[in-house]
Amino acid sequence: MPQKMDADIKTPSPLQIGGKRDLAAYESWRENVLVGASSQIPVNWVEISDHLNLTTDERGAIRSSCSARNFALYRTRSDVTPAGLAAMARQLGLVQFDRPPLAGTDGISRIAASETDHEANFIPFSNKALTWHTDGYYATGPESVQSFVLHCVCRATTGGENALLDPRIAYIRLRQDDPEHIEALMRQDALTIPAHIANGREIRPAVTGPVFSVRANGHLHTRYTARKRHVVWAEDRLIDRARDALAEILRDDPGITRHVFAAGEGIICNNILHDRTAFEDQDASGSNRILYRARFRDRVLDT
Ligand SMILES: [Fe+2]
Repeated sequence: MPQKMDADIKTPSPLQIGGKRDLAAYESWRENVLVGASSQIPVNWVEISDHLNLTTDERGAIRSSCSARNFALYRTRSDVTPAGLAAMARQLGLVQFDRPPLAGTDGISRIAASETDHEANFIPFSNKALTWHTDGYYATGPESVQSFVLHCVCRATTGGENALLDPRIAYIRLRQDDPEHIEALMRQDALTIPAHIANGREIRPAVTGPVFSVRANGHLHTRYTARKRHVVWAEDRLIDRARDALAEILRDDPGITRHVFAAGEGIICNNILHDRTAFEDQDASGSNRILYRARFRDRVLDT
């Protein structure tokens, strides 16, 4: 049974469907998103000289990119340790760590193809493809993952490409196609992630909530996974239609950015939609793909 409902929803909002719609406010929001997305094609990279001491210009460039498209891509000159990544994030207002099961005690996950059976059961810790998702779709309300930072320490020999899409673009396309898609995906019972049970013990209860919601801060929040297993969608024709339409958008929308992160490169984002292709590492003597990932319950400051 669902155990959690999302109470942290702002009403009314121009992003909601039904009732007295504020279409002018929606049009203005939509225009702002579309202008922001098109103003930076191709996506600008923020060059960071010292991630431990971001300059005003570097911080400004990260913020403006996150405002425009909900993510910023960066390159660092210096090596980044997990502690260094946390220190960089802190300068962007990211301090409240979400701590998924395989994160280190420092809150940072080392994403690599794992040798151990336990970790390899989690697809991120394998070399398999990851379908489209936002991070932390098992959480709702104040525990929602609002942002994440992914930093590449070493890329794979082949594969490991990420696709990235601002969820606001997906929302706009869906609403353009049919506002009923949005209405369906905003249903409180749209998407349930069943309880995580290991060795007969409940690690995490079942979580039910919407795909799209509007946070108390007025921002659109997206909770989505395209995976087929361990996911229960509300049985409803409108939800099925909306899911199909979203899958179609995620196949080849022109707003999607694709990139294979190289060593020293990374992304800071307000938990956007993303996927990952499968990858192959070198043999045991070579260096393997590894990324550091930190998830937060804060948005990037001032974005
Ligand atoms: Fe992810």
